[in-house]
Amino acid sequence: MTDKYAVIGNPVAHSQSPLIHAEFARQTGQDIAYAAILAPLDGFQAEVLKFRDGGGKGVNITLPFKHEAWSLVETREGYAVNARAVNTIRFADGRLIGYNTDGIGLMRDIRNNLQCPVKGKRVLLMGSGGASYGVMEPLLLEQPEQVVIANRTLEKAVGMAGQFEKLRHLAAGGIEARAYSSLDGMQFDIVINATSAGLTDAMPRLPGNIFAAQALAYDMVYGKTTPFLRFARERGARSADGTGMLVEQAAESFFIWRGVRPQTAPVIARLRGEG
Ligand code: ATR
Repeated sequence: MTDKYAVIGNPVAHSQSPLIHAEFARQTGQDIAYAAILAPLDGFQAEVLKFRDGGGKGVNITLPFKHEAWSLVETREGYAVNARAVNTIRFADGRLIGYNTDGIGLMRDIRNNLQCPVKGKRVLLMGSGGASYGVMEPLLLEQPEQVVIANRTLEKAVGMAGQFEKLRHLAAGGIEARAYSSLDGMQFDIVINATSAGLTDAMPRLPGNIFAAQALAYDMVYGKTTPFLRFARERGARSADGTGMLVEQAAESFFIWRGVRPQTAPVIARLRGEG
């Protein structure tokens, strides 16, 4: 019998997840159906439970429900604990098990696909919302030299640095919170934009010399050249949008649900219009 999965969000029509999971299923011969479900802003929980009660096996969660999903699940596995956000739920005998695969997805894209090791690098992580929390632990596990969290609202960056204080030993140079205005004179090897600014064609205020030689600029927004990526290219940095992260986090969800690892490269190429 075909096993049912879905992505739940608001809005959700733009989601590439149905296409990605259909590709994974075709590739691996798994018999699944994957839908997109629009949940009312005040009706997330009801949609999840309805899907489970209708025989669904699992769901992905996208904006703006990732934190609500974290509160809803009965068990949090792995990185979901510290991320305070859940993007994958597995229904196990009716129980809701929550995971966060966003950070794993980002790190696989940076490390494996873009061939940019994070170990020993100075990393600037912009944003202190759900997207940023979601990637912090997998990022620290790569043992960067230093992680600076910058945010428009400084208190949120300070709170986030405090939340991950217990993992501080993973970065030799520590974890630090800063306002964009106090980044002058600093340089980074990897700059990750985890803000939603790119969605509205905006970008955080960065000093022009923020990129070290051969730096990587990564924007989690996918499918468009954001002002941040343009800014980075103009200053000689290598740039990547979030397409690879999107496909890699989906592959990890697929593995959690099906126990099979799909190939990501052909799907990334297809989304970029190269496949
Ligand atoms: P998400 O779950 O996508 O992280 P979020 O929790 O709403 O969404 O967080 C959005 C992040 O993008 C925040 O860090 C926000 O900064 P503030 O905390 O100061 O609001 C950041 N952000 C959004 N638009 C921005 C802009 N134009 N410039 C700088 N930062 C921006």
